[in-house]
Amino acid sequence: MSEQPRTVTLIDEATGKRVELPVVQGTMGPPSIDISGLYRATGYFAYDPGFLSTAACRSQITYIDGEQGVLLYRGYPIEQLAERSTFLEVAYLLLYGELPTAAELADFSRIITHHTMINENLKEFFRGFYHDAHPMAIMVGVVGSLSAFYHDSTDIHDPRHREIAAHRLIAKMPTIAAAAYKHSVGEPIVYPRNDLSYAANFLQMMFAVPTERYEVDPVAERALDLLLILHADHEQNASTATVRQAGSSGADPFACVAAGIASLWGPAHGGAAEAVVRMLEEIGTVDNIPRYIARAKDKSDPFRLMGFGHRVYKNYDPRAKIIRKTCMDLLESVGQQSDPLFELALRLEEIALQDEYFLERRLYPNVDFYSGIIYRALGIPVQMFTVMFAVARTVGWVAHWMEMMADPAHKIGRPRQVYTGAGRRDYVPVELRKPAGHGPRATNGERR
Ligand code: ACO
Repeated sequence: MSEQPRTVTLIDEATGKRVELPVVQGTMGPPSIDISGLYRATGYFAYDPGFLSTAACRSQITYIDGEQGVLLYRGYPIEQLAERSTFLEVAYLLLYGELPTAAELADFSRIITHHTMINENLKEFFRGFYHDAHPMAIMVGVVGSLSAFYHDSTDIHDPRHREIAAHRLIAKMPTIAAAAYKHSVGEPIVYPRNDLSYAANFLQMMFAVPTERYEVDPVAERALDLLLILHADHEQNASTATVRQAGSSGADPFACVAAGIASLWGPAHGGAAEAVVRMLEEIGTVDNIPRYIARAKDKSDPFRLMGFGHRVYKNYDPRAKIIRKTCMDLLESVGQQSDPLFELALRLEEIALQDEYFLERRLYPNVDFYSGIIYRALGIPVQMFTVMFAVARTVGWVAHWMEMMADPAHKIGRPRQVYTGAGRRDYVPVELRKPAGHGPRATNGERR
């Protein structure tokens, strides 16, 4: 017997008007009230800054239970994928919905591997950037510029074109990321190698120089592959929501992913790993931890404990648990018994998790509390941390973009607003205006 469709009744107490709103239920997770017809039925908009309670789409890609600390990619627990899978297998899973057979994986790996080179002319873009440019700034520009090179594959209404664009993005992202790094250290860009895995290839493009033979350390390769798996997707996070929003107008996929990279850059999102390491360096020693905990709790101080707290997880982020363990294993196997920053991070976590403020608000370490420690052990500099995240998350971005483009229910994302500005008023001629005191300030002495 099929279940009766559920509704929720909304009663406007001012007018007594009742409206039945349909309930949408996914495979798992809380039910949602379909408010798409709310304005037509009631004349009201819904107000939800930051989408605290609003599901913006239906998706089959990733499931999170923030209360229990559960993360599933296409139904598979992140712990199992982290232990038994590889990044390209996970990429296939996220894109196509099922784990590949051996033949399918070999074919997918071959396709991605053979798309890793970038157009030679694209290399000119890197030379145009200041040597001290943040690599994320370079990423935003260069990835956006891919739309100018690969417009042969951007008929977004053709599923095959969408797939080719997705393959190109996944394949070229490590090449662009490593080139951004090489530019910042003044070394020649290193070409990809087709005999290496996705992670190993990235490491050689980052660290090889033309004058020496470069051997990829298998421990480093596995650690990086693991980080790529853990960062591959996280349902409707800010950057993925940005890619969907940009793509909802029918925009070019490379430009949409550039928008996602911009969103990821912020310290409240992907910039957190970089911010964590800078914070730990600033804290310096265990003795200083209580002072920084006090600052994090002080509402008049903008300081927050970076790598702590999450919009969805109100429990330990399952990815942070895996990364914490990997830090221990990796530091041991690279012969670095202890990294002082790792010791400090462990102590900071311990102290914070005994503090009423963090317990009450259910603030636990998130994925990026420990990931920077692994990147450091791999020799990846701090300004590259968010770039590493972008490389991994590209598969999530394109999987969501493809899902959205194939969804007949998809519409241009066009939020409403609660207008709080001036009421209607008449134009005042310039000679009659009084100074309001908030014009632009002079820009003397700033870099042009
Ligand atoms: N340090 C101190 N206080 C915090 C922290 C923190 N890291 N995070 C949240 N809080 C407090 C807030 O001040 C707020 O307190 P209040 O209720 O007394 O006002 C309460 O906890 C709830 O926080 P919100 O900011 O409302 O939660 P929101 O879901 O909007 O933000 C976010 C989540 C942005 C991740 C936040 O926890 C944060 O800024 N963390 C630090 C940055 C970080 O690590 N970001 C990475 C997130 S994971 C990722 O993107 C990969």
